[in-house]
Amino acid sequence: WLPVFCSEAVPKWFHYVIRPIAAELESFMPQPFAGEIRGLCEALGVSLGDGVLLNFAYESTAFCTSIIAQDDKGNIYHGRNLDYDFVDILSKITIDVQFIKSGQIAYRGTTFLGYVGLWTGQSPHKFTISGDEREGGSWWENAIAAFLNRNYPVSWLIRDTLSRAEDFQSAVLRLADIPIIAEVYYIVGGVSPKEGMVITRNRRGPADLWPLDPLSGAWFRVETNYDHWTTPPPCDDRRTPAMKALNATGQQNINLNTLFQVLSVKPVLNK
Ligand SMILES: *[C@@H]1O[C@H](CO)[C@@H](O)[C@H](O)[C@H]1NC(C)=O
Repeated sequence: WLPVFCSEAVPKWFHYVIRPIAAELESFMPQPFAGEIRGLCEALGVSLGDGVLLNFAYESTAFCTSIIAQDDKGNIYHGRNLDYDFVDILSKITIDVQFIKSGQIAYRGTTFLGYVGLWTGQSPHKFTISGDEREGGSWWENAIAAFLNRNYPVSWLIRDTLSRAEDFQSAVLRLADIPIIAEVYYIVGGVSPKEGMVITRNRRGPADLWPLDPLSGAWFRVETNYDHWTTPPPCDDRRTPAMKALNATGQQNINLNTLFQVLSVKPVLNK
């Protein structure tokens, strides 16, 4: 499946450019990512070039909805879905991974077999992160330039933050400030009241920080794939149906089940 998947997701010129220099690209990758990609390629029997391509290809597929909400007792709920571009393949290789340090679960994430970054993860009793794509289309040239400038792929920064940040605040700071190769929305949840944030990212730093503001009635934030201060295009408005469903649910009734129901409303639940 791998070559088929890659040829659909990645422009041809990218193949021609990246394949021969994949081994060199590895020297631009920090650990543990470089070693994991190499190890996965050996285990799965694919070339290092394809492994690198695969890890970049997924960077462009995360159309989705993330919701952060606080109930009337101050509990924080964070949910997300993922509108797979390649639903047949990706849904079959979606995996939950536990990252163990000194015999303890340091953090957990949901990802795809062969992919070393995370779009979704949680650091127990500290914080949760989801990522939503910000720009569609042809971002490849800038991404490669940024990567050679040692910026992180956006999904690597999620994983790096899960591994390093001590709490919600330090997670937000890292996710807002560390240079990345593409624009993205990071949605972050904490463990205490008011700990919820939507970070709109440029490559170099934050474009906007949008916190939960439950004291002023903003007990939830919905982020799809458009800047929250703009109106989503009518052909892809998943934000309004999600907000309607949240309004109908009410702050006193929000919990894991009702949040799942909100994410299951069409078209919030997309293909
Ligand atoms: C949800 O409720 C808020 C507060 O009453 C209101 O401002 C907003 O327009 C509602 N949104 C939708 C989509 O119903």
